[in-house]
Amino acid sequence: MCGIVGYIGEQQAAPILLDGLSKLEYRGYDSAGMAVYNGKEIDMVKSMGKLKVLEEMTHGGSTLPGFSGIGHTRWATHGSPTDVNAHPHYNKDSSIVVVHNGIIENYMKLRRKLEGKGYQFVSETDTEVLAHLLDYYYKGDPLDAISKVMYWVEGSYALGILFQDFPGEIYAVRKDSPLIAGQGKDGNFIASDVPAILKYTRDVYFIENQEIVKVTKDSLNFYNIDKEEVQKESSRIEWDISAAEKEGYEYFMLKEIYEQPKAVMDTLHPRLKDQDIVIEELGMTDEEILAVSKIYIVACGSAYHTGVTAKYVFEGLARIPVEVDLASEFRYRRPIFQPGTLVIIVSQSGETADSLAALREAKSCGVRTLGIVNVVGSSIAREADNVLYTWAGPEIAVATTKAYSTQLIAQYLLALKFAKVRNEIDDSQFQSMLYDLEKLPDQIEFLLGNKEKIQHFANRYLATEHVFFIGRGIDYAISLEGSLKLKEISYIHSEAYAAGELKHGTISLIEQDTLVVALVTQKELYKKTLSNMQEVRTRGAFVMAVTNAGNKEVEKSADYVIYLPETNPYFTNSLAVIPLQLFSYYVSLGKGLDVDKPRNLAKSVTVE
Ligand code: AGP
Repeated sequence: MCGIVGYIGEQQAAPILLDGLSKLEYRGYDSAGMAVYNGKEIDMVKSMGKLKVLEEMTHGGSTLPGFSGIGHTRWATHGSPTDVNAHPHYNKDSSIVVVHNGIIENYMKLRRKLEGKGYQFVSETDTEVLAHLLDYYYKGDPLDAISKVMYWVEGSYALGILFQDFPGEIYAVRKDSPLIAGQGKDGNFIASDVPAILKYTRDVYFIENQEIVKVTKDSLNFYNIDKEEVQKESSRIEWDISAAEKEGYEYFMLKEIYEQPKAVMDTLHPRLKDQDIVIEELGMTDEEILAVSKIYIVACGSAYHTGVTAKYVFEGLARIPVEVDLASEFRYRRPIFQPGTLVIIVSQSGETADSLAALREAKSCGVRTLGIVNVVGSSIAREADNVLYTWAGPEIAVATTKAYSTQLIAQYLLALKFAKVRNEIDDSQFQSMLYDLEKLPDQIEFLLGNKEKIQHFANRYLATEHVFFIGRGIDYAISLEGSLKLKEISYIHSEAYAAGELKHGTISLIEQDTLVVALVTQKELYKKTLSNMQEVRTRGAFVMAVTNAGNKEVEKSADYVIYLPETNPYFTNSLAVIPLQLFSYYVSLGKGLDVDKPRNLAKSVTVE
């Protein structure tokens, strides 16, 4: 996620901006920049790469003299990580300069409108639209220009803005992306997050949605979108610096689990337009979608697990045969492709060696490829014929959660779109499923409210040595992810089994009090899975069931039940995975392990 810092006061701004940005590095970024008013005009420096590059370019900020400025670390969403795409962005005469965290969903429409009025763009970013739109509306009153821009812009944004005509002021605006203001002893601040300014002040103001802040060296004034002044109370931050980097969460993994509603919303909303699914970046015409005869979904680890779910969704809805492959296997088995094949590579990092090799193998055979990737500009994103980005923001914890959830969303959208184009589903089913998709963020939020209950249950299993996850159909796919989450961060041996497979061997491992987690979200398979639960229970297992609200029948075959809100059976993985993530997190936490950095594992496996 991008980071923003602004300062205006008695001190030189640039060193303070660099220091503040360094405290936001944990958010993940790929370029950085600063803009400082130097007494005459706004001076800017920006560059691809880490903050160190910026520090060296500006000799620690000394080549950017001035007492007010804004700084930015960019996590690329629109436009690869390059010098030109780095922030700040500015209008034609650099008299208005802006830094931005978020996604402007209607930026293409606004860009075309501005180009039609003669504006020229130099970058690929959505943010540059804001600089020119502010220029378009600016008639000498910054507040008025900002207010007008806010009425036109759709999406999420936290902005820091400099107006050359008003060198004693910095403006900040917030909608959905976090932003705070801070009152220091010799100057005032804006920032994306507390750590950036905690060294200078513990008195902060949390900016609400559609609020504007005017910051001078002596004052902070707050306004609503209609330019009416609003009164705000400051908050006293008691966190220590290290805690604040995680916004108060003990580990990044829990923070990212809690970011899932927003990550799912950010991945979903820009692709839902006028009761339809519009995936501009797919690069496939309806004719090309109709011509798809087979899909391969190729990935590793959790990304592979999303493919196992997607197989059921694609085959169930779009009636296209799907083969799901581990990238490490796919790349060596000389797959035989038929005409009309589409290979989808799923990868959070976009750098996983096996997945990249699988992509290259498919391309060498002349097969069409699509990447589903979270890191903009990563190798898989660049080398696939087309890329569908998941907008989860940077994921720091090794165990994936929000990226996994957004990978599911991306594949749901694809499967639904393909099903509609191929007339495999009628419009009422399509609309009903869109409605279910749009409910998912709130339903995930609801499930996150169970954390205390799940933590209490998890604490009973800190010493356990074996856990089994079972399910049928999509429930089997959920079992795979539940099992991986537990073993990779708690080091407890765990296996996932197609429930129907138990009697072919694994059931011999069930002993008194063995924990078996049963996924029971597929209505037409309830009875089958219930009988598997009874099989293990009669052999001494303790059964934890994850099922749909109202499925009380499960209670006869389970010792502990977690109920999920109602959704379409194809989407239950997005809900069932939440309690499983929390369960694994609290077992690892209870065992005193480093949840974010489990032993032997790396966030991105860039080697074979
Ligand atoms: C999941 O929690 C693991 N971190 C791991 O399985 C991961 O999903 C796998 O390495 C694939 O990574 P990628 O999505 O970056 O390609």
